[in-house]
Amino acid sequence: MIKDVLKANDSVNINDTDINALKQYFPSCFSKDGSFDVEKLAKRLKNKIDVSREGYELNFLGKSYARLLASVDTTTVIKPNQQHNVSPENADSENIYISGDNLDALKHLLKSYAGQVKCIYIDPPYNTGNAFEHYDDGIEHSQWLNLIIPRLRLLRELLSTDGSIWISIDDDESHYLKVVCDEVFGRQNFVANVIWHKKHTRANDAKWFSDNHDHILVFAKNKEEWKRILLPRPIEEKGYDNPDNDQRGLWASQPMQVKTPSEKCIYEINGPTGKKFWPPKGRSWQFGIDRYNELVIDNRIWFGEDGSNVPRIKKFLSEVKQGIVPLTIWPREEVGDNQEAKGEMKLLFPDDPFSTPKPERLIQRIMMLATHEGDFVLDSFLGSGTTAAVAHKMGRRWIGIELGEHAKTHCIPRLKQVVDGNDQREVSARLLSGKAVVVSSSIHLPPPS
Ligand SMILES: C[S@@+](CC[C@H](N)C(=O)[O-])C[C@H]1O[C@@H](n2cnc3c(N)ncnc32)[C@H](O)[C@@H]1O
Repeated sequence: MIKDVLKANDSVNINDTDINALKQYFPSCFSKDGSFDVEKLAKRLKNKIDVSREGYELNFLGKSYARLLASVDTTTVIKPNQQHNVSPENADSENIYISGDNLDALKHLLKSYAGQVKCIYIDPPYNTGNAFEHYDDGIEHSQWLNLIIPRLRLLRELLSTDGSIWISIDDDESHYLKVVCDEVFGRQNFVANVIWHKKHTRANDAKWFSDNHDHILVFAKNKEEWKRILLPRPIEEKGYDNPDNDQRGLWASQPMQVKTPSEKCIYEINGPTGKKFWPPKGRSWQFGIDRYNELVIDNRIWFGEDGSNVPRIKKFLSEVKQGIVPLTIWPREEVGDNQEAKGEMKLLFPDDPFSTPKPERLIQRIMMLATHEGDFVLDSFLGSGTTAAVAHKMGRRWIGIELGEHAKTHCIPRLKQVVDGNDQREVSARLLSGKAVVVSSSIHLPPPS
């Protein structure tokens, strides 16, 4: 017992009792790493408040500097990969790959592509505190905000007026990111917070919760101008048939009577076998006699195989509304999960898979909702290249930026496979006609003067 007390005493600091009291009463004055922010406490203790000067704003160390970073011009130069770019199969490419820091790269891009990008997807480091094999994901909270804010400001400038930005994030920073995005894109342009079911296994060793979702924050450049595209309706051929070989294709029969009767829709129908039909008591047919006769002429009324059943109306599969409105919860069965993404990586790089890829189906869903063929798609945290790979497979033009060494070891080899038509997995329904279209460039800092 005494041994335990002596051991515990070894790690006691002289201000522990005070700090614990402060933690109890002023938890908001401590940052995530447990350090105490005396200025926050001073603000809390101020007894005079100028209400007229208060607003909704996220404040953090270096916020003004973050704004400055977005405003100053880059002192870097783009060094094009001439050898690659002049080869005949690449000469007409409209796709761009830049390896380097996206802050500089975005500034270069703004000079030619401002207002031209239809969809931006980014999957920045989440600031989970982990050190992944290919990049570090643990920086101080305000440093993370300083990384994100200037880049968001530049990304906004690149968006077309009918464009949208989609940002993957998890619970560590998602709520701060929402506030920051409100500031950059305008609260009125917030579209949705999609919940992606990224994991189906339970981490039984999790200290509190086993985290199994990510957020995808969606903002439009201008919500009045942005139009989401409907998702393709899953082909539900179940229940559809074509027993009379109708040239309009598969159809299903539906009841012709309705519960709320209308006087002019109650009439006798003569079936093809001479059998007569009335709507059931308390009901009427769906339409009046004139409309009924039109439908008969158009071969849309069905009396069963032998012509003696109660009349029903034919509903053709080709005429069912083609698209469905997206939901804000995206199940892994529909868009894949982390495990699926890792599987995709292992197929491409069995010995050294990139550690935090997104599944291709997830990006495909975003592209479906936000872009048409030929639109420009941009990802400035490209990682292993998923966004560019999917965009290419879907016939979109793309711009990708990546800073890490895996730009060379993962991203470029992956995109080469895609543009050469050698990766036909998953979303590779259609490839752009023509051969390789990648333009590879890198940013080089000029020597210090
Ligand atoms: C979560 S990963 C993106 C993964 C990607 N969505 C995929 O499917 O492979 C984040 C990436 O951002 C890159 N990154 C971080 N800071 C960057 C910066 N300033 N400029 C460019 N890329 C950066 C990291 O190197 C990392 O590859």
